Amino acid sequence: MILRADQTGPVINPNLYGHFAEHLGRCIYEGIWVGEDSPIPNTRGIRNDVVAALKNLNIPVLRWPGGCFADEYHWRDGIGPREKRPAMINTHWGGVVETNHFGTHEFFDLCEQIGAAPYVCGNVGSGSVQEMMEWVEYMTSDANSPMANLRRANGRDQPWKLPYFGVGNESWGCGGSMTPEYYSGEYRRYNTFVKNYSGNKIQRIACGSNGADYNWTEVLMKNVGARMMNGLSLHYYTLPTGNWRKKGSATDFDEPAYIATLVNTLKMDELITRHGAIMDKYDPDQKVGMVIDEWGIWTDVEPGTNPGFLYQQNSLRDAIIAALNFNIFHRHAGRVTMTNIAQTVNVLQAMILTDKEKMLLTPTYHVFEMYKVHQGATSLPLALSTPDYECGGKKIPAVSVTASRAPDGKIHLGLVNANPNTPVTVTCTLAGLTAKRAAGRVLTAPAITSINTFDAPAAVAPKPFHGAALSGETLTLTLPAKSIVTLELE
Ligand code: AHR
Repeated sequence: MILRADQTGPVINPNLYGHFAEHLGRCIYEGIWVGEDSPIPNTRGIRNDVVAALKNLNIPVLRWPGGCFADEYHWRDGIGPREKRPAMINTHWGGVVETNHFGTHEFFDLCEQIGAAPYVCGNVGSGSVQEMMEWVEYMTSDANSPMANLRRANGRDQPWKLPYFGVGNESWGCGGSMTPEYYSGEYRRYNTFVKNYSGNKIQRIACGSNGADYNWTEVLMKNVGARMMNGLSLHYYTLPTGNWRKKGSATDFDEPAYIATLVNTLKMDELITRHGAIMDKYDPDQKVGMVIDEWGIWTDVEPGTNPGFLYQQNSLRDAIIAALNFNIFHRHAGRVTMTNIAQTVNVLQAMILTDKEKMLLTPTYHVFEMYKVHQGATSLPLALSTPDYECGGKKIPAVSVTASRAPDGKIHLGLVNANPNTPVTVTCTLAGLTAKRAAGRVLTAPAITSINTFDAPAAVAPKPFHGAALSGETLTLTLPAKSIVTLELE
């Protein structure tokens, strides 16, 4: 392998490490919001343990309130005294009653507590243009205007900064079953009334494609284009089986299922390449960012849990999936400007699982923490030759690597050995760099199915890595089987 420390690639937008928290199952309620009267320690109703864990990830941006929920959410129901807020049915996610106790003020409070920029997704599917326009005024206007005064009456004098706004979610599906032609028209109409108030400048994100629906991207780029949008989303979930009816277990899987899942996750590279090529055709200056605002592994729910709550465990396999995806995102750091893992707590590929007052960090959490050094760093080109990892007739590269130079000059590597059976030794020529020190951490576990539980919450956790050696311009390191290694070179 050659690491070109004498060359530079694009800057890795910190927003590639974004998150997504929806009113779904136990993500918002219990996972984040416990209410001011809860025995679980909280600050203004938001649980302190979860905030502390999330702060440690330097989350750059948080998307809310959905997801499918966004297109049935009416923001006025989530403001004012909580006991007076009307409830609603969360039709997409379990048909449960949503109290609206977590609304706009609580969301911005959460963002302030964890230090993330807010990304709000508006309701195109069942809301009106006026409703969306007034929400933006409510959140961002400093004027003596009806919505700004309503916000003040609800206890918030200063407007919030709102840098990112989504005009609908999955408008091809749960957001309204629209064709790309119809949605383009709707986007243009709704977006016209998403105003920049009081110096706030909104980056507008249009609903993008469902996986490999390249026609959606083509139509949006043609009919909307860089003049009217700053970002176009892409949703792609890794399904172990590729079958939505029987996705596969989060914890009970064998090696053929493991490699099949990795094959599916690596499709992200092709999706970005092909959607990116269409975007380049209409937007050669890359003004429109590709915003992968939903990604991650989606398995069957944990046995015995509400199928509408999308609660799944998180194994070493998920950590490997997270790292492989980050390595892909970094490779496309010019076009991809934001990604948001689905979802932050208790839903799909979560960072954190909670059980009432208990909380654990998942293997995926640790990858987000180990990789956070890449946020805002300059990617470095590298040439890698890797052995294959083969199982059950399927084959993928065993090793995946990313590298970047942080603003303080330190170089960071992220390496994955996806082979669950054998270590791999990587010899790397450091072109243009003589490093004196290589220090790192490794995340691995006895099995690809290893998980953290409330009884053993640190079964899968990073440990110091001692497998690297420097000699002049050569770095040699041995990656344990099924591992993620991060390395800092000075
Ligand atoms: O993340 C769960 C759901 O997946 C989201 O609500 C929706 O946008 C997608 O289909």
